[in-house]
Amino acid sequence: MLIVANWKMHKTINETRDFINNFYENFKNKEEFAKKNKIILCVPFICIDEALKQIRNKNIDNLFIAAQNCYFEKEGAFTGEISAYMLKKTGIKYVILGHSERRLLFSETDEIINKKVLSCLKEDLSVILCIGENLEQKNKRLTEEILSNQLIKALKGVSKYDLDKIIVAYEPVWAIGTKKSASCLEISKIARYIKEEISSFYGKDKNLVKIIKVLYGGSVNTENANKILKAENLDGILVGKASLNYEDFLKIIYCAK
Ligand code: PGA
Repeated sequence: MLIVANWKMHKTINETRDFINNFYENFKNKEEFAKKNKIILCVPFICIDEALKQIRNKNIDNLFIAAQNCYFEKEGAFTGEISAYMLKKTGIKYVILGHSERRLLFSETDEIINKKVLSCLKEDLSVILCIGENLEQKNKRLTEEILSNQLIKALKGVSKYDLDKIIVAYEPVWAIGTKKSASCLEISKIARYIKEEISSFYGKDKNLVKIIKVLYGGSVNTENANKILKAENLDGILVGKASLNYEDFLKIIYCAK
C-alpha cells in the first residue's frame, strides 16, 4: 500500500524536523511494515530540504518526500514559482498535481495541469495526479464523466511507458476536509473505473490496468482508514488533516498491515 500525507500549508521547518524525529522514534524496527508499504510525505517547498536531511540521517526504508505543486516552465521570469527541474535537483521523486485546492483557489485548469504533468515526467519525477467531482456533479450522476474528462486532459501527450510514474488520487471534492469520506464500495468502483478508463485511452491495454495505481483521498482518519484500505482495486490513501499529527498518522499507516 502507498500512504501519502499531504500537509498542505502546514508546518514550519522546525515542525517538519520534529514530526520526522517523533515519527521515526515510533517507526523504527518496523522493517516488515516498510517492506510491504511505502510512505510519502508531501511537505511545503521550504521544508523539503530539512525533510530530506532528516530521512537521510535515519535511513528509514520506504519513506519518501514530495512537493505539493510545481510550475511547468523550467526557469525564467515567473516570480514566486518553483519548477519541476528545481524540485528534481532537491532530490525528491514525487510531486502532487491537480489538487482541487489548486484548481479552485488558484484557477488551475486541466490544460495547466497537463503542462505540469509533462514537465514532471520530463524530469523523471513521479506525479500524484488528483482528480475528483464536486457535490453538484455527484448529485447529477456525472462523476465518471468528470473523472474521464479530467484524466483525458491531464494525460494528453503522456506516453504509456510513463504511466508507471503516474499515481492517480481520486479525491472527491465533497469529501475533502468535510469529515465525510466516500464509502468503500464507491471507492472500489471508482478505482476500477479509473484503471480501465486510462487503459482504454491506450488501446485497452490490459497490462495497464495492473500498472496504474489509484489512491483515495478525502477525510481519511484514524477511524475510517482501516475500512477504506480494504477497498478493492485501491492501492493506497492520501491523507490531509489527519497526517499532521504523527501519532494519528502512525495509527493510519498501521491500518495498511
Ligand atoms: P483531508 O484532505 O484528508 O483533510 O480531507 C485530503 C486532501 O485534500 O488531500
